[in-house]
Amino acid sequence: MIRIINAFCGNIYFMKIRDGQKKLDILILAAGLGTRMRSDVVKVLHDLDGRPLIDHVCRTASALGPRNVYVVVGHQGESVKSAVLKVLESDQVKFAVQTEQKGTGDAVNAAREFLENEDSTLLVLSGDVPMIKPETLAALIDTHSAGDAACTILSVNLSEPTGYGRMIRDDKDGFEKIVEQKDATDAEREIKEINAGIYCFDSRKLFSALSSVKNNNSQGEYYLTDVPLLLREAGEAVSIYKHNEPSEIEGINNRMQLAELERSIRRRTIARLMLEQGVTFIDPQNAYISEDAEIGRDTIIYPNVTIEGRTVIGEGCVIRSGTRLSNAVIGNNVEIRDNCLIVDSSVDDEATIGPMAHLRGNAKVQKKAKIGNFVELKKTTLGEGSKASHLTYLGDATIGKNTNIGAGVVTCNYDGKSKHETQIGDDVRIGSDTMLVAPVKVGDRVVTGAGSVVTKDVEADSLVVGIPAKKIKHLT
Ligand code: UD1
Ligand code: CA
Repeated sequence: MIRIINAFCGNIYFMKIRDGQKKLDILILAAGLGTRMRSDVVKVLHDLDGRPLIDHVCRTASALGPRNVYVVVGHQGESVKSAVLKVLESDQVKFAVQTEQKGTGDAVNAAREFLENEDSTLLVLSGDVPMIKPETLAALIDTHSAGDAACTILSVNLSEPTGYGRMIRDDKDGFEKIVEQKDATDAEREIKEINAGIYCFDSRKLFSALSSVKNNNSQGEYYLTDVPLLLREAGEAVSIYKHNEPSEIEGINNRMQLAELERSIRRRTIARLMLEQGVTFIDPQNAYISEDAEIGRDTIIYPNVTIEGRTVIGEGCVIRSGTRLSNAVIGNNVEIRDNCLIVDSSVDDEATIGPMAHLRGNAKVQKKAKIGNFVELKKTTLGEGSKASHLTYLGDATIGKNTNIGAGVVTCNYDGKSKHETQIGDDVRIGSDTMLVAPVKVGDRVVTGAGSVVTKDVEADSLVVGIPAKKIKHLT
């Protein structure tokens, strides 16, 4: 049987579940505070590439198509739960609560009631190891199933293994035990092979061995890493799946490690965009691009551009310095000049934005339209070929085609209690400093004089001026 799983990152991931293989459940440990972060925010809620660490791990878990995902929460449990539920459906995930953080073994024990009688393969993931790939986990699961082991541990060689648990091998090169950094002898600390903190267990055997774990170690904690040793002593098979990609296994324990991982993700994203998509970066070291963003061929990104979330940018665009795009959709051949902020909004082909423009709340700039200096658009559509070039606020407005919005125009959309809409037709010329007091409709081909305050609807083909604006003449 082959299951096709659509991982969120957009790539289709194929995982073969062999007939006869046990059901897969996944347990994610995310109850710890993360003391070494020196933060009031629980570690798994710190952002990496714009998303909490736990979000990364949940996406990976989901890509494996498990039967159930269990998440052990503790510190700031409610916030961790809501971060998890942004990725996983509520019927796919169950939460176990670890009230006191007494170690990784104790954390797993918090999920005992759900899993101790399950005849499943349990994949244990750490909420603070965000880069692990589904393919690697699939290989771990395969090794585990093929070896008929009670436990399979994911390991890797690190040139700088400080802080990690070390893999101690027996004289036949098999598993002997895991020793934590703080409990290791000098000789054991020389070992480069480390425990990734990721394991497959036979669920029942795990919980049976877990009952015997003691906390007589330097940290006074119940270590999950003692379980493989106990299983081995009970005559069970314990195997090791040694991976060859250290970068996937890096755990985050402090802010230095978080920043280093952030940099390596960004470097990888930018390299992919340059090599596979044909995007130009004037200074690749100084661009901040989310892994989820898509950017088309021959688009040029200047230094200090930030592209967040699921932003999509077409081909042949130019994005100048100091601009931030967040969940924006940009067409082809768009020019975004310096220091613009575009959030949850779209810009169609051949439009020009900025410098120093702000688009937010589902603003839509249509084809060949122009937004200039110090212009803000909120929940507003600017029609094809229309222009708002200077010092303007357009909120809750719909503006037609080939209309010109003069300098300093404001849609007065808020009366102190609620927001109201402004509608402006095609081929309109709104004179400089016109105030449009919403709700108001301005017909096609209207002209308003400079400084007008438009309080009533204006019929098509009229010239209006003054405060409040009055009709002077019909224009045709
Ligand atoms: C752990 C392993 C170590 C391994 C390393 C890999 C143990 C004892 N050590 O060490 O061998 O090399 O991961 O990254 O397991 N957690 C809880 N409740 C707790 C304690 C921890 O939920 O009471 C969670 C944390 O939120 C975190 C994960 O378990 O997501 C790992 O805990 P952490 O304290 O970071 O373990 P390490 O010291 O890194
Ligand atoms: Ca850790």
